[in-house]
Amino acid sequence: MSILRTVVRGVGSYLPAEILTNADLVKIVDTSDEWIVERTGIHARHRAAPGEYTSDLAVHAGRAALEHAGVDPSDIDLVVVATATPDHTFPSTATEVQARLGIQHGFAYDIQAVCSGFVYALATVDAQLKAGMARRALVIGAETFSRILDWTDRTTCVLFGDGAGAVVVEAVESDGLVTDRGILASSLRSDGRHRDKLWVDGGPSTTQTAGHLRMEGKEVFKHAVTNLADVIEVLFAETGLTGADIDWFVPHQANRRIIDATGRKLGISPDKVVMTVQDHGNTSAASIPLALDVAVKDGRVKRGDMVMLEAMGGGFTWGAVLLRW
Ligand code: UT7
Repeated sequence: MSILRTVVRGVGSYLPAEILTNADLVKIVDTSDEWIVERTGIHARHRAAPGEYTSDLAVHAGRAALEHAGVDPSDIDLVVVATATPDHTFPSTATEVQARLGIQHGFAYDIQAVCSGFVYALATVDAQLKAGMARRALVIGAETFSRILDWTDRTTCVLFGDGAGAVVVEAVESDGLVTDRGILASSLRSDGRHRDKLWVDGGPSTTQTAGHLRMEGKEVFKHAVTNLADVIEVLFAETGLTGADIDWFVPHQANRRIIDATGRKLGISPDKVVMTVQDHGNTSAASIPLALDVAVKDGRVKRGDMVMLEAMGGGFTWGAVLLRW
């Protein structure tokens, strides 16, 4: 029987020009290259220029994905931007991107699930395409976390970076086999009891300011590996696949130690893990599509490969998407 599958047609990304190395950060806060590399695996991150906004990053990444897909903006009827750092409180960054790409039909909205945003967006768009609400979507993760960092707090300011990544996805007829291309399964979770462990201390309704990121790093770390492994096991149970069936593991890039531990727990061999945290830092909702773009463009991720995406972030939110590239 024929069903609808959400297939990735193209991928693209954008990183702002300025690179901040660990050596640059040593001049700003009491830290060291050794501490940052040992605890996180991060060597460098990018930072948006003054006047360069989340929507600018998103438009660059979106255009790159459309070009890679060979799809004209006029063929997109849904634009979703996953971001926790929108240009404005409203309207959504997605409507800004929609206008700048010259798309005058369909609909656009933002998704706010912090670092899990891209996984949330992809799973939600998958459901909407299958329900027939749209045919072809541009799904973007874009962040300017440099704008909400407290640059005097060494426990957070060394961890994050700015950037954007995007995919073009399309609903196609499929026999629904595990060998067919597209999103096979996804699972989303949240547990708001942990909302104060990774949060921003401002907002329109509370302080009328954007606020700064605050994190109990150890607490986040403690939950991350367990939560991520649990949600991936759900997808394995649903599809009958195991870690040995995964060609590429493309996790949210927060910390090398979390990525290594999750891969080990799931039986995914280290040479199948896409790692970009060393060059990008944690770019929140942008990290997965940025990593995907790197691994597709350097020839690692190829058509027909089985790819597992996963992320965890503030809320807590977490989730995973399993797809045949
Ligand atoms: O994307 C959303 C999800 N976010 C995450 O996944 C982040 C999860 N958490 C982590 O990645 C880790 O917890 C961190 C990298 C944030 C911290 O690593 P840790 O091994 O948990 O270190 P810690 O927080 O226990 O800090 C150890 C020590 C402390 O000093 P004392 O109290 O032992 O004297 C910190 O003050 O390291 C100190 N420290 C630093 N030292 C140099 C904290 N930040 C720094 C720093 N440079 N930047």
